[in-house]
Amino acid sequence: MPHHVKGVIARAEGEPVELTTVVVPDPGPGEVVVNVATCGVCHTDLHYREGGINDEFPFLLGHEAAGTIESVGSDVTSVAPGDFVVLNWRAVCGECRACRRGRPQFCFATHNATQRMTLTDGTELTPALGIGAFTEKTLVAAGQATKVDPAADPGAVGLLGCGVMAGIGAAMHTGNVQPGDSVAVFGCGGVGCAAITGAKLAGATRIIAVDLDARKLERAVEFGATHTVDASRVDAVEAVQAATNGFGADVCIEAVGNPAVLQQAFYARDLAGTVVQVGVPTPDMAMPDIPMIDFFGRGGALKPSWYGDCLPSRDFPMITELYLQGRLDLDAFVSERIGLGDIETAFARMQRGEVLRSVVVI
Ligand SMILES: NC(=O)c1ccc[n+]([C@@H]2O[C@H](COP(=O)([O-])OP(=O)(O)OC[C@H]3O[C@@H](n4cnc5c(N)ncnc54)[C@H](O)[C@@H]3O)[C@@H](O)[C@H]2O)c1
Ligand SMILES: [Zn+2]
Ligand SMILES: [Zn+2]
Repeated sequence: MPHHVKGVIARAEGEPVELTTVVVPDPGPGEVVVNVATCGVCHTDLHYREGGINDEFPFLLGHEAAGTIESVGSDVTSVAPGDFVVLNWRAVCGECRACRRGRPQFCFATHNATQRMTLTDGTELTPALGIGAFTEKTLVAAGQATKVDPAADPGAVGLLGCGVMAGIGAAMHTGNVQPGDSVAVFGCGGVGCAAITGAKLAGATRIIAVDLDARKLERAVEFGATHTVDASRVDAVEAVQAATNGFGADVCIEAVGNPAVLQQAFYARDLAGTVVQVGVPTPDMAMPDIPMIDFFGRGGALKPSWYGDCLPSRDFPMITELYLQGRLDLDAFVSERIGLGDIETAFARMQRGEVLRSVVVI
């Protein structure tokens, strides 16, 4: 029997979101239904509402979620009813050319549930990032549900589903930060603070936080930044060099999504250093105009980071364990806990830069 549950949809471009009834079908082969416990509010949800991702309205918003498996499709063996899971938006296929070569973190054919959730009149919903979790129950592909230790607080570990994992992975996986490295993080929102956390875990000695907002820099220090740069007042490149004996950082992480910031990250890097691009550009943005001789002459690497190059089955349980051991503070990303009816207020607070993450408790 399909379930009728409460969920938050964006019906049309730029219009406030609506709390309405969503119909969740029983899981088919390869699918699971999840009782959602919590779901973080991410900038991407707002991008969907504003038509910035695509125009497949109505969207079922929400994608940074944790919950328990309610039911599974006939052939599903990876999870069972009652399992505590964090949802991910890159369920690997196991068969594409990346997966076949042992690089499933780059899977080129990630997938979502086959069936669609609908409104009561049958209108098909497009789930945000193939998840859709501002709802009491959601339907996802089995590979999108990753089992983690049920002792963890869902509100905290659910954030691994998107920005926090992207930031930690940008430092640990894409940037391959090593003990003793210096790391500069440009943009200290949720993703940037997670990158700072990842750099600290990996053993970076100098962690330089760069932002335009003094409040963000204060918080970055709480996450482990050793130096701060207010780029609204000083030249960011010179300041990062000054904090690294004049040389620049080994790893520079762009966590804004802005070509001017990418250019700063490029020049704030030591010779043979790495630039990680984890901020997502809009389609109108172009690469900064950098002389090719500078690209060659500085060596190193420029690396985009999809979801922090994470592999959910490897990384979600590992980070959950570090969190439960008290070695990684995921609670610090949770600024407030709210209800399903509070999404618009949370969007406004996010736009004013007041929160790292508002987490909906269902
Ligand atoms: N690669 C991925 O898989 C992935 C996953 C999730 C999010 N993201 C992206 O990461 C980026 C950051 O996300 P977030 O949730 O942290 O956003 P956010 O809005 O919370 O944080 C952005 C931060 O950048 C700062 N900033 C803005 N302009 C700046 C500038 N010129 N110089 C320095 N700092 C500046 C802001 O003050 C803010 O603190 C977004 O582009 C988001 O889409 C990427
Ligand atoms: Zn694959
Ligand atoms: Zn997100």
